[in-house]
Amino acid sequence: MIRFVKPTVKDISAMQELVLEDVANGNILVRNESEMATTIRSYTVAYKDEVLVGFVALHIHTPLLAEIRSLVVSSDLRGQGIGQKLISHCINEAKQIDISELLVLTYQAKLFEKFDFKIIEKSTIPDTKIWADCIKCKHFPICDEVALTLKI
Ligand SMILES: CC(C)(COP(=O)(O)OP(=O)(O)OC[C@H]1O[C@@H](n2cnc3c(N)ncnc32)[C@H](O)[C@@H]1OP(=O)(O)O)[C@@H](O)C(=O)NCCC(=O)NCCS
Repeated sequence: MIRFVKPTVKDISAMQELVLEDVANGNILVRNESEMATTIRSYTVAYKDEVLVGFVALHIHTPLLAEIRSLVVSSDLRGQGIGQKLISHCINEAKQIDISELLVLTYQAKLFEKFDFKIIEKSTIPDTKIWADCIKCKHFPICDEVALTLKI
């Protein structure tokens, strides 16, 4: 049984551990401990028993636009629907605070298309995202991630 809850700052080290491999292979952008603490309320974590097995963040860019980022599921539990449940949590959270559009940059376009996200031109991504985040990415500026948005 998987529980989806808001994390506390005590979860940060387990979250960093979980994402280590995907940060190394460039699937997920590195976030240091302070950045994760500052944004801790944006995350939802998945627990199986007492073990942290996944998480996702809903990062607000503007009153209209938020981004789903840092989605990860423990490699031994992938393909069981946990990732989709984390995405659903983010969409519901965004609806609760009246965000009207969600953005994601990902190599997993098909996963987001299941939720009716549509592929967009990367040139339309807000500058705040590019300069705050993309510039830190090891693939910048030759980025082959796909950008998708969902109107909610
Ligand atoms: C992307 C990721 C979060 C998906 O999590 P997940 O729990 O495996 O996702 P789900 O099980 O909900 O859905 C994955 C889809 O891929 C399929 N799949 C099957 N085996 C799989 C596997 N071993 N790994 C991943 N996906 C698999 C699933 O069947 C499902 O499709 P379906 O519903 O049509 O069957 C996870 O693969 C991951 O952590 N990847 C590395 C980090 C990453 O790329 N994050 C995305 C950043 S936006």
